[in-house]
Amino acid sequence: RHLTTMRRRSFLTGSAALAAAATLPRAAFAQMPAVKEFKLTAAQGRTSFAADVIPSTEVWEYNGQVPGPEIRVKQGERVRIVVKNGLAEETTVHWHGLRLPNAMDGVPHLTQKPIATGDSFTYEFDCVDAGTFWYHPHSRSSVQVGRGLSGPFIVEEREPIAVDRDITWALNDWRLLKDASISNDFGNMHDMSHAGRIGNFITVNGISPETFEVRSGERIRLRLINTSNARIFGLTFEGHAPTIVAMDGHPVTPHAPEKGQVVIGPAMRVDLVIDMTAAPGSRFKVMDSFYQQQEFRLFHMVYADKPLRAEPRTDAIALPHNPVPEPDLATAQRHDVVLGGGMMGQMASAQVGGETMDIRTMLRHGLIWAINGVASTEHVHEPMATLKRGTSHILAMENETAWWHPMHLHGHAFRVLSRNGVPTRHREWRDTVLVAPRERVEVAFVADNPGDWMFHCHVLEHQAGGMMGTVRVI
Ligand code: C2O
Ligand code: CU
Repeated sequence: RHLTTMRRRSFLTGSAALAAAATLPRAAFAQMPAVKEFKLTAAQGRTSFAADVIPSTEVWEYNGQVPGPEIRVKQGERVRIVVKNGLAEETTVHWHGLRLPNAMDGVPHLTQKPIATGDSFTYEFDCVDAGTFWYHPHSRSSVQVGRGLSGPFIVEEREPIAVDRDITWALNDWRLLKDASISNDFGNMHDMSHAGRIGNFITVNGISPETFEVRSGERIRLRLINTSNARIFGLTFEGHAPTIVAMDGHPVTPHAPEKGQVVIGPAMRVDLVIDMTAAPGSRFKVMDSFYQQQEFRLFHMVYADKPLRAEPRTDAIALPHNPVPEPDLATAQRHDVVLGGGMMGQMASAQVGGETMDIRTMLRHGLIWAINGVASTEHVHEPMATLKRGTSHILAMENETAWWHPMHLHGHAFRVLSRNGVPTRHREWRDTVLVAPRERVEVAFVADNPGDWMFHCHVLEHQAGGMMGTVRVI
């Protein structure tokens, strides 16, 4: 089974309406709002991760597919997305990494009322940044994302770099039982207090393919999205030298991954450019080996018999910058952000809804993590900081725990300045930064987007266990 033959069920878009409008006189066309329309319906369904090999699995999906349909627009375009809730519980959709107005951010009890069963909500916003993004529910995320709800959201540059194929790989990780059903042990205290819900089955675009077909001389832009609840991916491409060109959608100086391994924490994205430099008919392994104990072969990259071209492409691969404001480090306000809790942590108590709770009481409420000594739930959002619009800020994160945390800020992109006091090589823009156990990481951003924005760990079991807060920009 080949990735290239993967189904891409169509979904409703406004392009048909736009095509009709194109036959109208020019003046009439100019008045049409350039809005691209999409419809997403979240509902229960079934999917097969490997037809004929594995029995089908009950999942929660968008428009009857896992992952949900890829939304693909051009930078500067406006989208209108009607989300219908066909689930038996409330939901929302968060557009992860997209800088948009607060009311469109999809956080229940913070930016909107949750969408009740059978109801719809219309999201509408401009896509100001180009890049690789994704969407997922923000209600009971551990369960809703873990059961399959997520999809890619691609914003193409106005002038994209020249490649032969532009491919998205939505990576996911499932915890399957022997009959291929999803284990329903969501929210158990072990996952919550350790590394999160790490599964036992990996899919790429919703299937477990054996091969991925390429051609000699081909240049591929690979958009990797980690949609899993908790698994950190570390991909290697045997015999090839991928170049990282973007992180979390934002361009970065093209460079080789450290030790050849492309590390992608939960919710993070990496855009690669890979030249297919080997001979026709050859075969290479694509591996995931972040956790040494469990190396996993994703599939073989298989070269077709016919080359695409004799000489590799030499076009430039650096991407144009996004209009993200540059933080002024000289005037930036510093905020200490201490990540605490979890198994082997020293946390004895935390503030929950304004009260001090000892750890035993917290555990009874399913809470075990805190940011600056405060554990939050989906229903209680007390701003951890109030920032004046237009000012620059440094979040100095200190991970006091024994676990990895991909920390995500909504509504903004930040520069990753340093790790353990050492300046980062690329000062990359990101919306999610992976913080290693005991590590200190500093990021900087301009608080230019008014509203209440979530700041949380994207290990969804850590988030559910209290590791979230909000940042208010006024
Ligand atoms: Cu990807 Cu707060 O989310
Ligand atoms: Cu975490």
